[in-house]
Amino acid sequence: MDLIIKNGTIISPTETYKADIAVRDGKILAIGSEFPEAGAKIVDAAGKLVLPGAIDVHTHLAMPFGGTVSADSYFSGTRAAACGGVTTVFDYPVQRKGNTILGLINEKKEICAQEACVDYAFHCCITDLNDGAILEEMQKAVEEGITSFKCFFVYKKEGMMVDDGTFAKLLLRAKEIGAMINIHAENPDLIDLKIAQFKKEGKTSPWYHYLSRPEFVEAEGDKRAIHWAKNLEAPLYLVHMADKEGLEAAITAKTDGYDIYVETCPQYLEFTSEVYKREDGRNFVCSPPMKGQESQDALWKAVKTGGIDTIATDHCPFQSAEKDWGKDDFTKIPNGCAGIENMYPYMLAAANEGKISFNRAVELCSANPARIFGCQEKGSLTVGKDADIVIYDPEKDFTVSVATMHSDYDHTIWEGKQFHGYPVMTFSRGRLVYEEGKFVGEAGWGNFVKRAGRGK
Ligand code: URP
Ligand code: ZN
Ligand code: ZN
Ligand code: ZN
Repeated sequence: MDLIIKNGTIISPTETYKADIAVRDGKILAIGSEFPEAGAKIVDAAGKLVLPGAIDVHTHLAMPFGGTVSADSYFSGTRAAACGGVTTVFDYPVQRKGNTILGLINEKKEICAQEACVDYAFHCCITDLNDGAILEEMQKAVEEGITSFKCFFVYKKEGMMVDDGTFAKLLLRAKEIGAMINIHAENPDLIDLKIAQFKKEGKTSPWYHYLSRPEFVEAEGDKRAIHWAKNLEAPLYLVHMADKEGLEAAITAKTDGYDIYVETCPQYLEFTSEVYKREDGRNFVCSPPMKGQESQDALWKAVKTGGIDTIATDHCPFQSAEKDWGKDDFTKIPNGCAGIENMYPYMLAAANEGKISFNRAVELCSANPARIFGCQEKGSLTVGKDADIVIYDPEKDFTVSVATMHSDYDHTIWEGKQFHGYPVMTFSRGRLVYEEGKFVGEAGWGNFVKRAGRGK
């Protein structure tokens, strides 16, 4: 035995029970009691919860975007992940138009092999089919364990947008090869129309970022994506869902038996569009923007009742000076916020307050992401799985501040957020990587997670 976690309360999506966990060679060897302790590191988890590490299936590390690059590298982003109880990070490499995707994935794998502090996987963003060559390459990507691809309905000037025809071809190809398409759904033409109108009227504060992408703009994108997926009978994953109308359409489609999944993010559960009226409103600029109270209430309801499948962060922070580019023009603000270190504490604190159960928090942040995206070694504390384990102290109080976070950004939208209950240890494949506020892992520890295709 390398590690024994004793006396803790283990949380799975369906059970809460007291048992010890024995770990050997990075795997969970046994769950029970009275294991032989000789030579093992012993962790006494009395009074604590023992949880599977979170899987953040939506991050943008070192991403060229909005005229700059997102603030966290693969090192600092995965370091922050470890300190927030996240043991697997999915990144979204973006295909440069005309280029291959396998080349991009290999580039990212090489960087992560040097830098990643926890395990990592990729969904590849496709921006150009290269006359169909990419549809061929997708098959090879699946064989290499990249079993999901992303499309953007927006970001035309950034060279990332795809049209409906491309989206449809990708849905069909993904279905054929056991993969899935993830979609960023908003309507680009409505956004452009609104932006042009606001610019003409001299309305340039961050509040107009929200008003140029309000509820119906996202709902149109969500419903269009759902419509295509239903009619092509292809699986679909809606990323960063933030509006009520789109959410309800997705839930109806799911109830009707379609292979559709919904993700939301902690920022949409915590903040409403009111933040864009604040002095520091530009720091909250992300796409889709935070929505009104009605949407937030609908998101919470779906978190509680099962309509939402996963919680992920869309971690994409930028430095204050970069956010300041948009002081007098919201269209110049790089889109994205921080969250990788805050997601699991946020959802677990919601459980600690009784808003949801700890079982549901674990389902949303670990078990469902693993199941939906084919991480067969992850997502639960079960014999034979990777020993990705978080010890959570339900009595520890913690206040977020940029100084105590482990990212490379200089501000966070979570500044001042208070949590009752906080992770105190994170193990990545049995290795301690975070303890009591300190990162104790190392760059290069993380492994690539080769994922199974759908139906495997
Ligand atoms: O504003 C955001 N969300 N930035 C990151 C890119 C994306 O749309 O997910
Ligand atoms: Zn997006
Ligand atoms: Zn994103
Ligand atoms: Zn308490």
